[in-house]
Amino acid sequence: MLKGKHIVLGITGGIAAYKSAYLLRLLIKAGAEVQVVMTPSAKEFITPVTLSALSGKPVVSEFFTANTGEWHSHVDLGLWADAMVIAPATASTIGKMANGVADNMLVTTYLSAKAPVFVAPAMDLDMMAHPSTCRNLQLLKSYGNHIIEPAVGELASHLVGKGRMEEPENIVKALEAFFAKQKTLSGKKVLVTAGPTYEKIDPVRFIGNYSSGKMGYAIAEEAASRGAEVTLVSGPVDIKVSGRGINVVKVESARQMLEACEAHFGDSDIAVMCAAVADYAPAHSSDKKIKREGHDAPVIELVKNPDIAKTLGGAKRPGQILVGFALETDHEETNAQGKLASKHLDMIVLNSLRDAGAGFGTDTNKVTIYTADGRALPFSMKSKAEVAGDILDTIETL
Ligand code: C5P
Repeated sequence: MLKGKHIVLGITGGIAAYKSAYLLRLLIKAGAEVQVVMTPSAKEFITPVTLSALSGKPVVSEFFTANTGEWHSHVDLGLWADAMVIAPATASTIGKMANGVADNMLVTTYLSAKAPVFVAPAMDLDMMAHPSTCRNLQLLKSYGNHIIEPAVGELASHLVGKGRMEEPENIVKALEAFFAKQKTLSGKKVLVTAGPTYEKIDPVRFIGNYSSGKMGYAIAEEAASRGAEVTLVSGPVDIKVSGRGINVVKVESARQMLEACEAHFGDSDIAVMCAAVADYAPAHSSDKKIKREGHDAPVIELVKNPDIAKTLGGAKRPGQILVGFALETDHEETNAQGKLASKHLDMIVLNSLRDAGAGFGTDTNKVTIYTADGRALPFSMKSKAEVAGDILDTIETL
């Protein structure tokens, strides 16, 4: 399961760091490629020499190598990783991760990581039970991170309680279980639309909307990590795609998005229409910038854009699954159910703009999923990565 996986192993300054060498050994034995990132204080507990010898890669700890000036890119590392495991994770590092205190290579890598992150806390029982630790771990969970709960047992202080880092064998098992679950879409082709569309008025102006593309990108990434071959047709957004197995097709207008979708839909097993497609486009776009002079109150004539989801719904063949989104401000359920039927969807994901933290630009979302087979599944507010997981879990039931 871990063969060929790129794993960033983050080690922080706790006594349990001595177990990290064994964890690293197990990961390498399982066929993973491991890059160790240490906090400065972790080096007080275990030497980089041991870890670089075991991993076959120099350990990264500083932003750059002092004598050569070689820069270590936390962004590249974050994108390289299929998973990041922080073991042991001290209360201090957990606090920094929860609050974005990026003062070392480990936390900056964490903030750049697009891959799933596993956190194995290790600390004394009172630190573990402190409300700030509990709150920070809760925050990490809400970001979609996986907490590998510490075991109850004898601690370095000789006190007995909860705080012992989970044994390396069990950390490896947690990773294997995660990757095993992930392959549920292997061999499937998934088409996802994301972001807004821009409808050109002239070379400097367009009609667009506030969609950030975050939800669609999260779905594409989740599908790819479950083994699917993904085509992501994306409107103009400012997101870097991470994860392998995603073919990004960049488009601007609704017509271009339709064209790209029609080119890929025939081949797809699942299509998730997450884009906020503009309903109208200017009837004519100008090649030259439209001047203010002589236009006191210009009128832009609009024409209706094609409904991509509905077009694909009409062309659907048996066995293909088509999923739409509904972003509503009122009569949410009725409107969502109406779109489910009229666009021939198999499932629709409703998010209401009335829920704070749901909708455009946020990192969280709160959705209700309606399926054509009559189910209504409300979910709580979660990170968009977790919502993507819920959406794909539900698709897998169809
Ligand atoms: O009708 P409404 O725009 O609310 O429907 C939303 C759903 O339809 C979303 O899945 C969206 O991606 C899709 N859609 C589309 N093409 C359009 C308008 C919406 O694919 N022109």
